[in-house]
Amino acid sequence: MRLNSVILSVAFILVFIFCGFVAANFQQKPDPKDKGIGPIKTVKIGAIDKKLADKGNTVFDTKCLPCHNIDNVNLAPALRGVTKQLSPEFIMNYVMNTAEMQKKNPFVKSLIQQWKKVPIMKDQKLSEKDARAVLEYLRTQE
Ligand code: HEC
Repeated sequence: MRLNSVILSVAFILVFIFCGFVAANFQQKPDPKDKGIGPIKTVKIGAIDKKLADKGNTVFDTKCLPCHNIDNVNLAPALRGVTKQLSPEFIMNYVMNTAEMQKKNPFVKSLIQQWKKVPIMKDQKLSEKDARAVLEYLRTQE
């Protein structure tokens, strides 16, 4: 009787650990309502501001292009259409407050699992202005 309950408890614990492992590695879908974690609470989005997008293109070429291409997987995910999957607030917070989002945001954590063969995205620490400009550029690449 005793032995049975010990075996049962061990089996229960193993199933529990297995479920945790599966849950931790399960790919999450991006949630367009998720605003991420950081200083940006709301972003006003209107018609594309071409000048701002051009500035964002320059920021992208220096800060993001080493790892990301728009259409092809470089070291990191291709970014075409990312503004359809992630909210503007999320994208800005992610490039301004990368490290904290990597620690705490469930979707970013699942991305890291998915991209675990490459080093995680460096803490970008973009200024709000640069982050907004990159966002505008990404909006032109949907
Ligand atoms: C050192 C390489 C590197 C640099 C530089 C970099 N990233 Fe990333 N990025 C990654 C990796 C790796 C991931 C996967 C998740 C992670 O590691 O945080 C990622 C994920 C992302 C995602 C989520 C993609 C998706 O499929 O949902 C976005 C958006 C993003 N990066 C934007 C940017 C922007 C904008 C810049 C420039 C300001 C930038 N990244 C700079 C490596 C990089």
